[in-house]
Amino acid sequence: MADRQLDVLVICGSLRKGSYNAALARTLPALAPPGLKLRTAPPFDKMPIYNHDIQDTTGFPAEANAWADAIRSADAVIIVSPEYNWSIPGGLKNAIDWASRPWGKNSFARKPSGVIGTSPGAIGTAVAQQSLRGVLCYCNSPLMNQVEAYIQFKPGLITADGEVTDEATQEFLRNYMTEMHAFIVRVLTVLPRNA
Ligand code: FNR
Repeated sequence: MADRQLDVLVICGSLRKGSYNAALARTLPALAPPGLKLRTAPPFDKMPIYNHDIQDTTGFPAEANAWADAIRSADAVIIVSPEYNWSIPGGLKNAIDWASRPWGKNSFARKPSGVIGTSPGAIGTAVAQQSLRGVLCYCNSPLMNQVEAYIQFKPGLITADGEVTDEATQEFLRNYMTEMHAFIVRVLTVLPRNA
C-alpha cells in the first residue's frame, strides 16, 4: 500500500451550483498527502427515489449503478455534506440507499470512509454528520472517528480556485487528510481489498 497512491472518491452531498460543500471538496486534493489521489463521484441527481419494485422490474437505474461502481472501485470515500434540517440532504441519502443494495452487494461494506461538512451555522454540520455516521455504520463502512471536521463557512473562506484563505482552517484540513490517509492504510491492512 505504501508503494501506491490510494484512490479516494469524494462525494459532495449538495447539488447546488454555488455549494459551499462542493467548494470545500475542491480544496481537499491540494491539502492531501501524496499517498492519496482524490477523484469526484459521479452525479446522483437523476436517480429515482429508491423503491425495491424498480430493482425487481426494470433493474437498477444506470445512474445508480454508475454511482455504486464508483464507490466499489475506490479504496475509500470522503463524504462532504451540508446539513438539512439536522440531517443529510435527501438526495444523498437516496443515493446511499441505492448503493447499499441489492442485499449482499452493498458497495459501502468494508469501505473506509470519512465525513466532513461546512455550513454558515456555528455547529458546522455536526448534527448531520452524526446522522451520516449512523448510516455509514449500518452500511458496515469503517469510519474515521477522529478527526471530526465541522467547518463554519464564512464569506471568502474559500477562493474560486479552491484555496482555503484562513491559515488555521487550512492546517486543520491538511491534518484531517493526513489522518485520513493513515486511517485508510490501517483499515486496508486488516481488511485487504480483495479478501
Ligand atoms: C438548510 N441549512 C441548514 N444549516 C444548518 O447549519 N443546519 C440545518 O439544519 C440546516 N437546514 C437546512 C435545510 C434546508 C432544506 C436548506 C436548503 C438549508 C442551511 C445550509 O447550511 C446552507 O443552505 C448551505 O449553504 C447548504 O450547503 P451548500 O449547498 O452550500 O453546500
